[in-house]
Amino acid sequence: MTSLLALTRPDLFQTQNFIAGAWVDSTAHYPVVNPATGALLAQVARAGATETQAAIAAAQQALPGWRRTLAKERGTVLRRWSALMLAHCDDLAALLTAEQGKPLAEARGEVAYAASFLEWFAEEGRRVYGEVVPPHKLGARVVVTKEPVGVVAAITPWNFPLAMVTRKVGAALAAGCSMVLKPSEETPLSAFALAVLGQEAGVPAGVFNVVSGDAPAIGDAVMQSDVVRKVSFTGSTRVGKLLMRQASDTLKRVSLELGGNAPFIVFDDADVDAAVVGAMASKFRNAGQTCVCVNRFFIQDGIYDRFMERFAVAVRALKVGEGTAPGSDIGPLINTTALQKVERHVQDAIALGANLIVGGESHALGGTFYQPTLLTNANVQMQLAQEETFGPVAACFRFKTEDEVLALANDTPFGLSAYFYSRDLARVWDFAERLQVGMVGVNEGMISTEVAPFGGVKESGFGREGSSHGLDDYLSLKYMLVGGLRTGG
Ligand code: SIN
Repeated sequence: MTSLLALTRPDLFQTQNFIAGAWVDSTAHYPVVNPATGALLAQVARAGATETQAAIAAAQQALPGWRRTLAKERGTVLRRWSALMLAHCDDLAALLTAEQGKPLAEARGEVAYAASFLEWFAEEGRRVYGEVVPPHKLGARVVVTKEPVGVVAAITPWNFPLAMVTRKVGAALAAGCSMVLKPSEETPLSAFALAVLGQEAGVPAGVFNVVSGDAPAIGDAVMQSDVVRKVSFTGSTRVGKLLMRQASDTLKRVSLELGGNAPFIVFDDADVDAAVVGAMASKFRNAGQTCVCVNRFFIQDGIYDRFMERFAVAVRALKVGEGTAPGSDIGPLINTTALQKVERHVQDAIALGANLIVGGESHALGGTFYQPTLLTNANVQMQLAQEETFGPVAACFRFKTEDEVLALANDTPFGLSAYFYSRDLARVWDFAERLQVGMVGVNEGMISTEVAPFGGVKESGFGREGSSHGLDDYLSLKYMLVGGLRTGG
């Protein structure tokens, strides 16, 4: 099938699974649609158990050769891959916006963000140092090395069709692992384009495989395989728990980056303008569809009116439109299930006493477009306080004391990210430490970067991606005791 998108590199548009360095068709196909228009983008080969087993076998076969290469060689391939992504940024962004819906400017930002992980791990791979430990007996040496865990499976979501892939594949390949990727069925085209560029960069056949289609069949094949030694998953807490249960049969290692319920706290002493900028960035990025998007705003009494006034102006100014329309800030939600959840949360909040300040309805553009929405007078009984809305809805609570807001912020099974604005240095350190999350933005609304460890605590999962720690999940420690040595003197 040829693409309706005008790509500079038409070969980036692929619709088949990528196994052992070749594009493989299936007997069945499924439609990938543009969430902004509902238009068909592609009929994609629908992978199931057979294709997944072939991909696992390819990864197994490619593993010995890849893990034997020098870290420097692997780094060269990853760096080239990153550079190719940047060189083809416009094509990748066009594909990404078409299948995911986010505004083109955000899609370009995601290409750069995604490429940064490949570049980062190209460098980090050369610093997988071991240890020489003072021995416990004479005539011996104790040495610790780090080895790739083996064949890895990655399961990635639709909200960042490129960045969530490179954050995993960059680390895995730098560590010397091979990979089978299952991208979201909603957004496989970006992953296929990534595979095209990976091959061009020199990733050997079988080291990176992509299968998309029948999610339960692919998931079962991956989880039942004793060849796959690790699974890295980004997505819902419900699926994360299921994968962890399934992983116990073969004792695979698991990394889980799951849902959040991020609080955003504005204290009386905050810089209000900076807080509004941070609130907009952390709430409305990708139409509110990120795991680190704010889900609950807590504003202190003394600053409440000033903050809300400016926040409302900023929310009203957001432009909703197709990702390709100039000036669009908010694209469509990914599908009708997502839209229905947003509608349910807003209606429930209003029924339980929230005041609607901005939006509150589907957008006139129809489809899955939803109006940027601002609610005040939120309370903990509301569904939107208990689970991620994953949409462009800002729900605001009022609070009086620091202890009160800390208890509210931590009153959730989730613990991914939190944000707060305060200029009281004495408070900043202590408060950040008492938040039960993996990541904290202090006077910052955008925390995502390849240099810092991304991940959560509690039911937001475990494992860290990016940063110097991002390789750990793909490495096993091996200890060698070398005995029978001369003791010297
Ligand atoms: C996510 O939504 O899971 C990732 C967001 C990010 O990397 O900023």
